[in-house]
Amino acid sequence: MALSSVGRQTMLLDADLGLANVDVLLGLQPRANLSHVVDGSRSLEEVIVSGPGGLMIVPAASGVARMANLSPAEHAGVIRAFSDLHCALDTLVVDTAAGVSDDVISFTQAAQDVIVVVCDEPASITDAYALVKVMGCEEGSPRFHVLSNMAQDEHEGRALYQKLSRVCARFLDVNLHFLGSVPYDLALRRAVQRQQPVVEAFPGSPSAKAFKRIARVIEGWVPPTGARGHLEFFVERLVRAGAESEGYVI
Ligand SMILES: Nc1ncnc2c1ncn2[C@@H]1O[C@H](COP(=O)(O)OP(=O)(O)OP(=O)(O)O)[C@@H](O)[C@H]1O
Ligand SMILES: [Mg+2]
Repeated sequence: MALSSVGRQTMLLDADLGLANVDVLLGLQPRANLSHVVDGSRSLEEVIVSGPGGLMIVPAASGVARMANLSPAEHAGVIRAFSDLHCALDTLVVDTAAGVSDDVISFTQAAQDVIVVVCDEPASITDAYALVKVMGCEEGSPRFHVLSNMAQDEHEGRALYQKLSRVCARFLDVNLHFLGSVPYDLALRRAVQRQQPVVEAFPGSPSAKAFKRIARVIEGWVPPTGARGHLEFFVERLVRAGAESEGYVI
């Protein structure tokens, strides 16, 4: 939402395939979802929902268990659907599930930049470390950015980043970048309860301001090179990741 509000054409892919909930968070009632694209009954255009502020949303399939385990062929179907899409996009945001399951790894490998959302709790820090570990530091790995959530202030957020960044540099030889922090904010909870984005419902709240700061940083990220742009960059890498995990290479 914050990216949209700074004028970027933004699409959000709700890729928490087992428990997708962006539609619930924004009070939208999508009639179709990614599973219809996978089975070929809808085009991607038919599935895209216009969210607040011009945000384009691709709902995944809440409760559709098989969506959490797409076969390579189904993955390829999703990729084709995205390649056929004819709208200009500046940024594709992919919200994945937590953890390091195969589909999370595939989506993460396909992205140019990965934002690891972490809060200052042992389980959150070890989850973040595990994700960076499985992604590794191979040639072509995405860049990792840390977003500290529920921090008291920017100072505490940065301290959490430094804690994670030190162990990743030391044991994994991976460098993390600090993206920023979002404070614990009751306005955010209230917005969630109202099924509205906080940047619209409470634009002056601390978390909304933090999201806007973060959007301005993301605006400055270097886009993928090559004429085909973000979307095809992402989908090509996604299908390759799926294929490699199945033991063949495209
Ligand atoms: N900075 C914050 N301030 C206040 N409440 C927050 C904050 N961050 C998250 N929350 C609360 O926690 C809930 C879950 O947060 P979020 O959706 O970011 O977590 P998640 O790990 O992605 O969860 P899921 O597994 O459901 O996708 C939010 O709906 C909100 O109510
Ligand atoms: Mg989530």
